[in-house]
Amino acid sequence: MKKIAIVTGANRGLGLATSEALIQRGFKVIMAMRSPDKAQKELNVLKMKGADIVPMKLDVSQEKSINDFVETIKKEYGFVDVLINNAGILIDSDDGGNASVFKTKASTIQKTFNTNTIGPFLLTQKIFPMMKQEGYGRIVNVSSGMAQLSESQTASAAYRLSKTALNMVTNLFASEVGDADICVNAISPGWVRTDMGGPHADRSVEQGIKGIIWAATLPKGGPNGTFTRDGEKIPW
Ligand SMILES: NC(=O)c1ccc[n+]([C@@H]2O[C@H](COP(=O)([O-])OP(=O)(O)OC[C@H]3O[C@@H](n4cnc5c(N)ncnc54)[C@H](OP(=O)(O)O)[C@@H]3O)[C@@H](O)[C@H]2O)c1
Repeated sequence: MKKIAIVTGANRGLGLATSEALIQRGFKVIMAMRSPDKAQKELNVLKMKGADIVPMKLDVSQEKSINDFVETIKKEYGFVDVLINNAGILIDSDDGGNASVFKTKASTIQKTFNTNTIGPFLLTQKIFPMMKQEGYGRIVNVSSGMAQLSESQTASAAYRLSKTALNMVTNLFASEVGDADICVNAISPGWVRTDMGGPHADRSVEQGIKGIIWAATLPKGGPNGTFTRDGEKIPW
């Protein structure tokens, strides 16, 4: 039977490229996204290549959307091998200027947390028990170098806070794997040329997904509870 992978934010950027890479590695990919209707072009390209994909509606900032999504997954498939918590937003510039920490609004932090932290938390909370039942799972939280506490940081406070908290989400669930062959890891893709990273970023999308695919396809007994870039540990 084919392995099943869920990728959130699968309609563009790192999520779309991760979906393609997992399809090439033989996965059936549940491509979760806010608006499947708007991604028809991308989905048709994949379908024409014979990709085994299931586009599904999911807004990770909405608890009801997560609950409906998980219920459908349980009913249709009953198991999940890989969960890539990729969907994310960086909206600090909405607060103006260079998004100084002194300008950050509570609403920006709350909105950012809903998507970048609470969404992945709830989705993991609901998918993890299915993995535990099967005794197998790989969970990849797409974090950021901007989450690192080990570096002095300025600006983009909401984003940084949300990704540092996502790293703790990783740590919390990684501590729950017990004897099961489950690996829960956070990765940094580096600065990547996507809509979020912009055209001047120093890495291609292919380079950016390298560490995601590495963490999604770890062998039995692979690392658990780590923060890596391209498969190499980086400081929290
Ligand atoms: N690019 C970089 O340099 C970089 C660096 C470090 C970390 N990251 C992380 O990598 C991940 C992917 O980023 P990217 O560069 O590919 O960004 P992107 O091109 O802006 O794509 C973001 C994706 O997240 C989706 N998304 C946003 N809010 C969502 C929600 N509430 N529910 C479901 N999907 C939602 C978007 O869907 P819509 O089309 O519906 O908006 C889109 O598919 C993010 O977690 C980001 O923080 C990126």
